[in-house]
Amino acid sequence: MTTAVAVTGATGFCGRHIAAALLSAGLDVATLGRRPSEPLRHAELDLDGLTQAAAARSLAALGLRPGDAVVHSAAAVGDSGDRAAFERINIGGTRALLSACSGLGLRFIHISSASVYAAGRTAQPLPEGSPLGGHRDPYSLTKSVADAEACAAGAVVLRPRAVYGPDDPHLLPRLAAARRGSLLLLPGPSRGMSVTHVKNLAQAVVDALDWPAGAYNIADSESVDRDAAVQAALTALGLPTRIVHIPILLATATASTSEAMSFMTSGHPRTTRYAVRQLAQPVVLDTSKARHAGYDPEHTWNQFVQRLSAAGTTS
Ligand SMILES: NC(=O)c1ccc[n+]([C@@H]2O[C@H](COP(=O)([O-])OP(=O)(O)OC[C@H]3O[C@@H](n4cnc5c(N)ncnc54)[C@H](OP(=O)(O)O)[C@@H]3O)[C@@H](O)[C@H]2O)c1
Repeated sequence: MTTAVAVTGATGFCGRHIAAALLSAGLDVATLGRRPSEPLRHAELDLDGLTQAAAARSLAALGLRPGDAVVHSAAAVGDSGDRAAFERINIGGTRALLSACSGLGLRFIHISSASVYAAGRTAQPLPEGSPLGGHRDPYSLTKSVADAEACAAGAVVLRPRAVYGPDDPHLLPRLAAARRGSLLLLPGPSRGMSVTHVKNLAQAVVDALDWPAGAYNIADSESVDRDAAVQAALTALGLPTRIVHIPILLATATASTSEAMSFMTSGHPRTTRYAVRQLAQPVVLDTSKARHAGYDPEHTWNQFVQRLSAAGTTS
């Protein structure tokens, strides 16, 4: 009998690709969320205020049986916002779904993030056993709590970094929007960093249905040089860009001011300390654990850029 897999966040960037890869692998795919993802069968589930009982009802409505799986990609994402809402959705919602899955004997694959790793001097490449937490921004803070709880509950936890790919609504659009004329100000010198093609992440999810419980870093086979990668992608989009480095301290101070202003005006900050950290830290993930489990990422940034050049959009 085909394993059934329910995907949360299937209306989002990663979840849509994950659901498509599971379908291509011949699995019986359903979705859980606030909105359906046609044409898949769907059950209503809002992580905000979710209880274990409500989660169990949604899972039962999909007819999942012990041994089936839930892939939890939904989350409150973004580098600023209402901390309480992040806590309710990313911690409370994940906790309720985890408990309901455990009660029904369902396997759980949690889409976490490399942002859960503690900032600062850490081993490079960064293994899964590196310290987590110590964050102030609500996204990393709540994702690190959810990651730890999912690990403790025996889930498979995937930690991608800087996910990009077809129809990416996050990474490249934000970099494009941050240009001033043809200039892009980036904090500190260029760094080597891990990025994750969304199709590599989606294939990792398919593979991870058979992996032992625990955390796995998920990234492309090669890290990229930050400036070269950004410049190539923006140029391919028809946005030739000159990158100018600004000191990390100045970028952080500007981001603090921008966040404070946005708090007072209830708007979106133009830049955040989270974004500065993501762009300034040389985070290269050690993916050997996933590779030993069978992960074999085939998609690369260069290949993505070539397709962008041909198409002129991220789709
Ligand atoms: N993109 C990246 O660079 C990146 C990097 C590392 C890790 N991740 C992780 O990957 C996962 C997916 O991220 P993404 O980039 O695909 O984000 P996304 O495009 O913003 O999608 C977020 C998804 O979460 C759902 N969601 C949000 N709040 C919800 C709620 N209260 N109840 C039910 N569903 C809710 C959204 O559903 P609606 O359609 O109802 O809003 C949407 O389907 C997240 O767990 C994120 O932490 C992403």
